[in-house]
Amino acid sequence: MENEQDKIAAARERVAEIASEHYGRGDVLGWFDALYKESAGDPEKIPWADLEPNAYFKQWAEATGLKGDGRKAIVVGCGLGDDANYLHELGFKVTAFDLSPTAIEWAKKLYPNEEIAFEVMNLFEPPRGWLGAFDFVLEIYTIQPLPIEMRSDAIDAVSRFVNDSGEVVVVTRGRADDEELGDLPWPLSRKDLSRFEANDLKQVDFVIYPPENEGEADRWVVKYSRR
Ligand SMILES: C[S@@+](CC[C@H](N)C(=O)[O-])C[C@H]1O[C@@H](n2cnc3c(N)ncnc32)[C@H](O)[C@@H]1O
Repeated sequence: MENEQDKIAAARERVAEIASEHYGRGDVLGWFDALYKESAGDPEKIPWADLEPNAYFKQWAEATGLKGDGRKAIVVGCGLGDDANYLHELGFKVTAFDLSPTAIEWAKKLYPNEEIAFEVMNLFEPPRGWLGAFDFVLEIYTIQPLPIEMRSDAIDAVSRFVNDSGEVVVVTRGRADDEELGDLPWPLSRKDLSRFEANDLKQVDFVIYPPENEGEADRWVVKYSRR
């Protein structure tokens, strides 16, 4: 019988295949929706789908006593919506978006809560009304699977959502500045992250969590503040 690790390995192998097929056609974003579609509602086919809040973000949120108190949050590349729902439970007024219509449809079924605004949207083409409009911006694992050439633009785009007194929290796999990129998903380095500072954000917290699965990269939870 297939154990959990085998299932994750099989799902990751399929991700590599679908991504490479799309990259071969010069389409670097299309594989996300193709994967969600192909999974036909089976979350085990989506390597990042936990159906619960991201474990590293949750640890960090509990340790820091994160509370929404009605503040406006946006979740970037929200996938199946687990982190959006978690922020809602913490008292944020949540907007969550993803490029994949299939993911958004799925998220709405999992969390049919009209107080969470799930939207199909491309990070690089946001509505004007979202710019500088949020107190809390959450980005988990969306920058790392985008092609490295898009990394700075992706960080700029994430940074644009935060208002003058707001915060950005990034959860990512981490790598040393001089470490090779390796395979998809490509971990972020501190040098990559310095792009947030170029966007007038100050790094105010940096926590390293050992990975849940042996042999994987450490997870970093990094917080930036506008002030
Ligand atoms: C690795 S998944 C992580 C999903 C979710 N944050 C999680 O941790 O479960 C990356 C997500 O980003 C979405 N995505 C990729 N490029 C995007 C873009 N340009 N705009 C919006 N979402 C994007 C994908 O569809 C996918 O759902």
